[in-house]
Amino acid sequence: MASTLLFLFSLLLLLLPLPSFSQTCSSQTFSKNRLFATCNDLRHLSAALHWTYDAANSTLSIAFVAPPSRSGGWVAWALNPTGSGMVGAQAVVGLRQSGGSLVAKTFNISAYGPVTPSPIAFETWGLEAEEDAGGVMTVFAMLKLPSGVTRMNQAWQVGPSSTDGLPNKHDIGVANLNAKGTLDVVSGQSSGGKDSRLQERNIHGILNAVSWGILLPIGAIIARYLKAFKSLAPAWFYLHVLCQLIGYALGVTGWGIGLNLGSKSKGVQYTTHRNLGITLFSLATLQITALFLRPKKDHKYRVYWNLYHHVVGMAIILLGIINVFRGLQILNPAQKWKDAYIVVLCFLGGITLVLEVTTCIIARRRKSDGSTKQYNGSGATNDQRSVQQPLSV
Ligand SMILES: *[C@@H]1O[C@H](CO)[C@@H](O)[C@H](O)[C@H]1NC(C)=O
Ligand SMILES: *[C@@H]1O[C@H](CO)[C@@H](O)[C@H](O)[C@H]1NC(C)=O
Ligand SMILES: *[C@@H]1O[C@H](CO)[C@@H](O)[C@H](O)[C@H]1NC(C)=O
Repeated sequence: MASTLLFLFSLLLLLLPLPSFSQTCSSQTFSKNRLFATCNDLRHLSAALHWTYDAANSTLSIAFVAPPSRSGGWVAWALNPTGSGMVGAQAVVGLRQSGGSLVAKTFNISAYGPVTPSPIAFETWGLEAEEDAGGVMTVFAMLKLPSGVTRMNQAWQVGPSSTDGLPNKHDIGVANLNAKGTLDVVSGQSSGGKDSRLQERNIHGILNAVSWGILLPIGAIIARYLKAFKSLAPAWFYLHVLCQLIGYALGVTGWGIGLNLGSKSKGVQYTTHRNLGITLFSLATLQITALFLRPKKDHKYRVYWNLYHHVVGMAIILLGIINVFRGLQILNPAQKWKDAYIVVLCFLGGITLVLEVTTCIIARRRKSDGSTKQYNGSGATNDQRSVQQPLSV
């Protein structure tokens, strides 16, 4: 058991999908030395829009960059002068012809369902589509906007494949449905669409990352290692309980918000994340309840209770960390938040490593001290026991 925690920590860190550092639009460059005055990272689908607006002749020149949902798929960007989202979208779509060549075509989308290429409400020219080695597509277009109109709804989308030069249906995940907003070609602001529940999602994310993902592991580290230092005798226990109780309270609050979000989310369900969350709640509640059923220190069943407490505790910590990463994947916040959480985990992992080694050394030293002074009083024996006990759990 001594090295299990350590092993699991390192295993977990190895298994984590290392985050790819997302490119922000300002570092994107284009063929033919094309340059644009402004760029915005769009909130969903890893897309970005670059543009130059010439007020003198109300011409908008754009480059829309996004990875199709599968390699060989399509990407689309649209202005919607009559509505928001797909219906009414005047779209420029980059896709593959049946021959395999990449083209950009315009689509006047008047309804959900199959679409055919057609002229759109704006005069367009300079349509081009490109693909880089990583499969990320770029669509170039120039559009003549109605003069004086500088703010319009925009929408964008990515899809998996095309057949006979027509885009096939895209997914309908949260990101796909929310890939819309407004574009102000003059102020340089484009919004990725109002997401009314974003704040709630963020609160859920922060509460649960801090509780399941940070406080509970810290509480476990306290119990496991501070115990070894005799001088911290009852303090470690109260610290451990305090840490886990605060973690549990925050965790359950965040869990409730999460369940509420899930019930309000129509069509899109994150089943695994939800089930892991429910399992976590149940195990954590069991753990808290079991505290009151703890046999006395010298009771013969206490050793089983200890075993149960450690196994369930370990399971909660592992599931908690896994579910925090699942949540991060769903919420998809700025990369720095994922990085920050990984840094915290590495830090806790490092502390675990140092404490594991330290307590091991202390235990050895006391043991050898104990064996040379066996004849001298009971002090040495006590020391020895106080260190060995936590290490043998
Ligand atoms: C508007 O001006 C830009 C250069 O500033 C030019 O590239 C574009 O062709 C012009 N558009 C029209 C419709 O004349
Ligand atoms: C786009 O489709 C709508 C609905 O079918 C139609 O009213 C509109 O005239 C079309 N726009 C163009 C530019 O063809
Ligand atoms: C044990 O050893 C210490 C010094 O190492 C000494 O002060 C103490 O009196 C000894 N105790 C007994 C019971 O011999």
